[in-house]
Formats: sequence, structure tokens, C-alpha cells
Amino acid sequence: MKVVILDNPAAVAHYGADLFQQQLARKPASVLGLATGSTPVSLYRELIARHRAGLLGFGEVRSFNLDEYLDLPATHPQSYRQFMQREFFDHIDIAPGNTRVPAGDAADPIAACEDYERAIVDAGGIDIQLLGIGRNGHIGFNEPTSCLASRTRVKTLTRETIDDNARFFRAGEPQPHMAITMGIGTIMESRLVVLLATGESKAAAVKAMVEGPVSAWCPASILQMHPATVVLVDEDAASHLS
Ligand code: F6R
Repeated sequence: MKVVILDNPAAVAHYGADLFQQQLARKPASVLGLATGSTPVSLYRELIARHRAGLLGFGEVRSFNLDEYLDLPATHPQSYRQFMQREFFDHIDIAPGNTRVPAGDAADPIAACEDYERAIVDAGGIDIQLLGIGRNGHIGFNEPTSCLASRTRVKTLTRETIDDNARFFRAGEPQPHMAITMGIGTIMESRLVVLLATGESKAAAVKAMVEGPVSAWCPASILQMHPATVVLVDEDAASHLS
């Protein structure tokens, strides 16, 4: 695990975008693993800007998102599908059919999870996986105590995660308590992992991930065992590191 401490969130986004640009230069038909949440938004904006400047293209790219709420239609404004369209896909030249987000509204979610795993394998595996980290150390929606070898499946969200994500929903609007998420085992098979963490609220989780024991209590700590993980943190998120 390589940890890079940068001055501020803008520098984190810039460095992360550099890693994606290098990946696309090496392999234009890369398979990208993508994340939602607040942290990657600046990186997506940086990639969009570089795309508009003609520095990189997504014409041959395929993508797989980490997770999606269960039972939320893909058309719902708070679905992760809509988030990805709004924040990234609508602004780049990726083919719509080449973007996958787990089917949270599938009639048979278990079959949808198996299908997602198969689709990743059929695409040749994920070349570069973008991750954020929850304050409780989750990656994707793999909450603490998740099996470290887990595959794509339905997970119940913890109260902390539901509260953290309440900011995206209007007051009184029903908020999903379950999601489909890539498993930790699935994430660990990505060839390169780029994890972004910014802000003091992530400092304890970053410390547990980087310096703690490898434990299901901090799912991100398994990345210590991954052969090519780059953790990009700003000074606030790094503030608890020894
Ligand atoms: C999002 C995801 C989550 C987030 C994490 C951090 O697809 O899988 O693990 O990366 O909850 O979210 P933010 O960036 O909003 O703090």
C-alpha cells in the first residue's frame, strides 16, 4: 500500500486523475471500477476537463460501479445510476451500454449479483478501481464485519452509513437501508486500487486502514494485502497517522 499525503482535496483529485489518465494511455480499452459519494466528484470534474481538453478519451472504456441502493429505481434522482450520469457519464464519450451499475431494482437481486460478477470476469477484470472510505472503514457498502473474501451481494447498511448518506435525501423522503455492493474479494481482484480520502472526518478510518490490524472491523484494512493500492489523502485525512 502506497500512501500519498497531499496538501488539499484539489491536489488529491489532480493526483487521482493523473493515475486514471496514465491507465487510459497504457490501455485505452481499460475496465474502470467507479465510486459515488462526495469524495470522487472533484476527480470526475478533473477527468471531464481533461477529456474536453483532448487529453484523454473513454470511447473504448467499460465501467462497473461499486454499488447501488436496493429497491430504488435507476431513474430515482438519488440512485447511484443517476449520480454517475449527472457527475460523469453525461459529460464524457463513454458508450452508454458500456457503463454498469448494480441493478438495485432487479426482480431477483441475488441473480443480479451473480450476473454482475460474471460481467466483470467477461470484461477481463477491473484494471483500475476508484474507492472512497466510510467513516466506519467501509469500502463500497462492505460495512464492518463484512467477510473479507465476499463477492457482489446484498448488504444491510449500518445506522452510521444511513445517517451519513441522509444528506442526499430530502427531509421525510424514504431512504434505502439496503444495497447491492461489490464484495471485498471482488475489489481485491482489481489490478490497481486508488482510494481517496479527504477531511478530518475520515482521519480515524484512514489510520485504521493504513496502520491498524487487517480486520473485518475496518474492511478497508484488507487493502494492506493488495499488491497495488495507492491511498491519496489530504493533510486533514492524514492527521491521525503516526
Ligand atoms: C460509494 C461507496 C462508499 C463511499 C464512502 C465515502 O460508491 O462505495 O463506500 O465511497 O461512503 O463516501 P463519501 O465520499 O461521500 O464520504
